[in-house]
Amino acid sequence: MDLSTGYSKFRIAVFISGNGSNLKSLIKFSKTKKSPIFISLIISNNAKAKGLNFANICKIKKKVFNFANAKLAEKKILLELKKNKIKIICLAGFMKILSKTFIKSFKGKILNIHPSLLPKYKGLNTHQRALNNNEKYSGCTVHFVTSKLDSGKIILQSKVKINKNDTTKTLAKKILAQEHKLYPRALMKIFSL
Ligand code: GRF
Repeated sequence: MDLSTGYSKFRIAVFISGNGSNLKSLIKFSKTKKSPIFISLIISNNAKAKGLNFANICKIKKKVFNFANAKLAEKKILLELKKNKIKIICLAGFMKILSKTFIKSFKGKILNIHPSLLPKYKGLNTHQRALNNNEKYSGCTVHFVTSKLDSGKIILQSKVKINKNDTTKTLAKKILAQEHKLYPRALMKIFSL
């Protein structure tokens, strides 16, 4: 993958809508010596996203965009990404669906983390659906984003065993802990391709 910018690390933007625990783990990873990435920008559709606090604490540039007019928000985001020479977007709990046009303009350079073993359980309420179906395992997936929801090429997955007494809460917690390890590993993988 040729992503050369003249910078020693690849400049990435992380998109969040909520807690930002994946953002936190990506920031931690970005500070390690082996990390190929530098987080230059944090974008959110939600001014109240808890995860935005990490931007303040870690002094990373953050921008909030109002998706009431999604087309306009995306146009502004694209400008911001260009301005900041962003090469890769990591969606991390970003709860807006990006348009085909947006995805096309960043083709092959948008990653997402999803709390299921895709192609199983695309979309929302993954843990509840896995429990309802008496699955023995669930997990998480990092994949490339295409205009088809949660359907792009899989980069890495991590499997988690479901126990009899698991609830959506306990399962979400176990999977989230795996997500925090998986996203950095997926980035290492794509940059070594
Ligand atoms: C994670 O479970 C992620 O897989 C999903 O949204 C959740 C975000 O969690 N897409 P956080 O905001 O990173 O804590």
